[in-house]
Order: sequence, then C-alpha cells, then structure tokens
Amino acid sequence: MKSPIQLDFRALTPALGAEVFGVDLAAPLSQAQVDAIRHALVAHQVIFFRDQRLSHAQHIALGRRFGSLHVHPLAPANHPQHPELLRIHADESSARVAGESWHTDVSCEEEPPMGSMLYLTEVPEAGGDTMFASMYAAYDALSKPMQQFLEGLTAVHDGAKVWSRYGMTPSRPFARSEHPVVAVHPETGRKLLFVNRVFTTHVPGLSDRESEALLEMLYRHIENPRFMCRFRWQPNSVAFWDNRCTQHQAIFDYFPARRSGYRVTINGTRPLAAARAESAWKREPAEAAA
Ligand code: SIN
Repeated sequence: MKSPIQLDFRALTPALGAEVFGVDLAAPLSQAQVDAIRHALVAHQVIFFRDQRLSHAQHIALGRRFGSLHVHPLAPANHPQHPELLRIHADESSARVAGESWHTDVSCEEEPPMGSMLYLTEVPEAGGDTMFASMYAAYDALSKPMQQFLEGLTAVHDGAKVWSRYGMTPSRPFARSEHPVVAVHPETGRKLLFVNRVFTTHVPGLSDRESEALLEMLYRHIENPRFMCRFRWQPNSVAFWDNRCTQHQAIFDYFPARRSGYRVTINGTRPLAAARAESAWKREPAEAAA
C-alpha cells in the first residue's frame, strides 16, 4: 500500500509500534491525512500520538474517519451520552482494571473490531504502561509443521468467558463466534495467530485436553518479548492499534494512583481463514477486493 503523504514517525521496536509526530488529531483531518494514518497503522500495527486534546465529540469523530464505531456490550459502564465511548479508568478503589490479560478486543464478536483508539488524559507518575504484541511475528516464529497444523483449525471465542466471571451484565447477549486459528489480514494478506487468553475457549475437533494444551502453548508462545513493544503513557496520549493483527495488555502496577480516559473501537470484518484467503490473494487484487 502506498502512503499519499509522509508522516514523521519513530519505530518503537522492529516487531511493531511507531510514535507519530506532527499530527493534531482534534483538527479536521484531510482525506490524505486519514489515508496516511491508516497506512501507518497497517504498516506499524500500533501507532502513538502525544500531546493531543480531544473532546468526546472529537474523539468519536476521529474514530468515525476509520469506520463505524462499535458499542461495547457492557454499554451501561460507558459514557451515558456517548455509548461509543468505553471508559478506561482506575483509582484508589480499583481492585482490577480492564485488559489486564493479553487479548484482542472483543474477538468474541462475529466481526471483531478492526482497531481501537485509546485516549488517556490522566496517567500515573510511574507505571500503567500498555504492552502490545504482533500476531504476525508470533505466527512467523512458529515451525512450518506447526503453522500447517494450525491452518486447518478454528477456535471458539466467547464473551461469557470473561465478563460473566466478574458478574457484569451485558446490554445484549454475550457474543460467541468461531474464527480461524490462523487468519489473514484483510489489507496486507499476511498470516497471523488469532487466539487469545481472554476470549478463546476451545478448538473444536480436538479433545478437551488437546485443545487446552494447544491453546496454552500458543498463549505462552505469543508472550515472547521479541514480538512486543511497550508504550509509556503521558497525559493526553493516544494509542491506535490494529486489532486484527495485535494483542495488548494493560499493566496494573500503579495502585492506588489514577489512570483515566476513553476508548473508541472501530468495527471490522469477519477474520478470513488462511486457506480461503490464499485463493483470494492469488487472484488479481481488484477482483479479490470486490
Ligand atoms: C484495553 O484493553 O483497551 C485497555 C488498555 C489499557 O488500558 O492500556
């Protein structure tokens, strides 16, 4: 994919992540700027912006430049006037925080989000970083026999696995979906691992013990620092991650300090299985995209 305008950026690690400079996300962005940000997102998997000042309306409008917005099933916990905003907040009364285990956002949806944009206005003096991991790098590092074995498999992702455990009541039934274990990114055509500790429950067709052992092996494989970057927040930073090819983890090491902000989540499409995608990608790009 060719970027229409060049953004000024600095990569965090060879695996993923880049800090982008010189963009005011609150200003009305030209289509060329939106295309350049999207290009940077697809290229770096997660991008970061400092010193932003976004009202709720501007945050929502910004997210909408990249697609329609997802309303989280735990909508009552969100902002009452803006169901598209998911509040991310911790203080001296928090026993736990959202996203403490490695995960892909709401992968239990039939069409999981393409990306999430988190804007934090209050952050602790120290700690509260977010870790990101590249699922391209995790897939690429598997042996060929393991890659081939996984490509024929699907896995079930279930919202009830996480939310019911905390007694949370969703505004709609918990989503439960079956997705390929190895998916293909719809914009790059690259293969990636698509299972995560928070939502994935089992691999149909395997025995319970086989499924449990396989998923545990993959979760541990994914947690290799070589596939990761770590973002140190400052007040008014924005992280925009490509939810189709990354996982992330919020580190809750700052109790009782405050950390606060909102996330918008951009709708995506059904993950494409590697085997089916290969035939699509072998055709002309225009035909494959139709
Ligand atoms: C999330 O999973 O969206 C929360 C990430 C964070 O708080 O760093």
